[in-house]
Amino acid sequence: MDAKRQRLVQRRGWNRAVAHYDRYWSQQLLPAQHLLLRAAALEVGEDVIDVACGTGMVSLPAAASVAAPRDTGPRRRDGRVTATDLSSAMVAEVRARAESGGLTNVDGVCCPAEKLTVDGPFDVALCSLGLMYVPDPARALVEMHRVLRPGGRIAVSVWGERRRCGWAALFGIVDARVASDVCPLFFALGGPGVLAGQLERAGFSDVCHQRLSTSLDYANDDDAVGAAFLGGPVALANAHFDPSTRAAAERDYLDSLADYRTDSGGYRVPGEFVIAWGRRP
Ligand SMILES: C[S@@+](CC[C@H](N)C(=O)[O-])C[C@H]1O[C@@H](n2cnc3c(N)ncnc32)[C@H](O)[C@@H]1O
Repeated sequence: MDAKRQRLVQRRGWNRAVAHYDRYWSQQLLPAQHLLLRAAALEVGEDVIDVACGTGMVSLPAAASVAAPRDTGPRRRDGRVTATDLSSAMVAEVRARAESGGLTNVDGVCCPAEKLTVDGPFDVALCSLGLMYVPDPARALVEMHRVLRPGGRIAVSVWGERRRCGWAALFGIVDARVASDVCPLFFALGGPGVLAGQLERAGFSDVCHQRLSTSLDYANDDDAVGAAFLGGPVALANAHFDPSTRAAAERDYLDSLADYRTDSGGYRVPGEFVIAWGRRP
């Protein structure tokens, strides 16, 4: 699939997934997002860009971390978070959530990771679980390097190795039923040393990385199916399935999770993430 088409599939898919994403993923992704934010070590007053921000699960806590405390004493400057995503629905969601949460230091910009149309420079660039969907992740990292000030920091996370992600059969099951090829290189960045190597090739120094094993817990079939088919990158393909194709794809997916079924009828699916961080010299 060419890059333009991949971006179109992603944009339309995530525009659909926005309404379901948090319900199915907010608990599941928390450990990886916490580790990313810890690696970023944000400080009050810092300006941050969050690339592929989704609904703001990382952007909003980041905005709270860089805001000046509302206490007595001389008022310090609030840092700002510029939340960017390819999906306009995601960007609208982040803006709405920032507003309803009383966060006045969040800006939303709709742009692809490979071409950031933002005003830098930033102190910190974040990209949480977005790079696997980008047709040219190396280009996206060069863009993050470009918009950082010298000495600025980057922290990026991706899913880990395919064999350690119990849900990995999903893409094949969907691709067999619709010519979607959702994310051709999804697990490529999760291999040993790959993400850290990409950061170094983009020009970052002091690069470190950490692998994190977690489990994705689903209470029942509906939750497992919803997370995979409604709240993620195959949402567009799923919307085009007729009812019998959808039922067959869902059945195949649940069969692929059979080893992870719990006694209570839910699932405990292994998942792995890689977090890498570094600095622009
Ligand atoms: C799994 S979500 C991650 C959202 C958020 N960062 C988080 O940790 O919850 C992936 C996001 O990547 C975005 N995305 C996919 N391709 C992109 C691209 N080429 N440029 C920018 N964002 C992209 C999607 O729209 C989606 O919001």
